[in-house]
Amino acid sequence: MFAVQFDRHGPASVLSLAEREMPAVPAGCVLVHVRAAGVSPVDVALRAGGTPVAASLHLPHITGIDAAGVVVGIGAGLSDVTLGDEVFGTVLLTEFGGAAAEYAVLALWGAKPAAWSWAEAGAAGSAVETATRALDLLDIVPGAVVIVEGAAGGVGSMAAQLAAARGARVFGTARQESLHIVASLPGITPVRAGDDWSDTFGPLGIHRADAALDASGAGVLGALVEATGSAHTVVTIADPTAAEHGVRLTRGVLAGESTGNHGLRSLAALAERTGVRVLLRGSFPFGEAAAAHAAAEVRPRWGKVALVNDQPRASPLG
Ligand SMILES: NC(=O)c1ccc[n+]([C@@H]2O[C@H](COP(=O)([O-])OP(=O)(O)OC[C@H]3O[C@@H](n4cnc5c(N)ncnc54)[C@H](OP(=O)(O)O)[C@@H]3O)[C@@H](O)[C@H]2O)c1
Repeated sequence: MFAVQFDRHGPASVLSLAEREMPAVPAGCVLVHVRAAGVSPVDVALRAGGTPVAASLHLPHITGIDAAGVVVGIGAGLSDVTLGDEVFGTVLLTEFGGAAAEYAVLALWGAKPAAWSWAEAGAAGSAVETATRALDLLDIVPGAVVIVEGAAGGVGSMAAQLAAARGARVFGTARQESLHIVASLPGITPVRAGDDWSDTFGPLGIHRADAALDASGAGVLGALVEATGSAHTVVTIADPTAAEHGVRLTRGVLAGESTGNHGLRSLAALAERTGVRVLLRGSFPFGEAAAAHAAAEVRPRWGKVALVNDQPRASPLG
């Protein structure tokens, strides 16, 4: 099969298409004929190197943690999936890659929402999983006032929509350049990053927020604790100083936590009911993976970048 890989860390140009062995399908996982894969900030960081996790990768490394495609293989122990199902999801996250290939193993997945393109679905898996997991920790009830910091980003834009789908009144922050992106999300009130929360809430008669999710990692935890009145009503996915603020940092399977896989499983029905969508900033064929990674690095970052298998060879299902 072909795969997008790198054999050394460095700029986007280290990526190339290469022939690789088909992966085996572990128990509890599915093998998909990939139609699209995502390019996340974590994929960019792993390729660039310079972190302990990047240094631990076996090279050459197939990039990508998110993919969507057609199920062509089913691991032992699964009874809720059928060959030919169209799904989207994530690889085994402890592998840190394997999605940007003709075939990929998905460990977490759900049915592909009918209204989503392959590119949108391919880029969405870890954003849905992370947003679901983080919102679960915040225990959001209908009518709750919820802040999402970094609401233009890949995870943040999904979290804002999923919080709104849970009935919350959502305020999503972005920097000035990306405020219009947040404004394009139905039901989300855009707030400029750094604005004082009491100035935002006061005129609306809101005393304080009920919960806050930091998906920006931009050093906002102190302000969020103040805005909600408690460290226990704030969760971050990206700020390593969380403990200093008494705030929960969720890292999912990497920290032995339970996953937000149920968010993937229920997304197709939710998308049909509420119109939850993926903000797609760019879509590139697999052969232009370097351009896709370069695009994913450009700031301001909003939404997701996808790699599309635009010339799929016949799958084992024909
Ligand atoms: N813990 C987990 O399980 C987990 C899972 C997935 C991702 N992550 C981490 O979570 C973070 C977000 O991931 P992602 O994929 O959503 O990244 P992303 O697409 O780059 O989103 C981050 C967003 O935050 C924005 N931002 C930066 N400073 C801000 C500020 N002061 N106020 C409001 N928004 C601000 C960025 O905009 P600009 O480009 O303009 O700065 C960008 O839109 C990353 O650090 C990622 O590594 C953690």
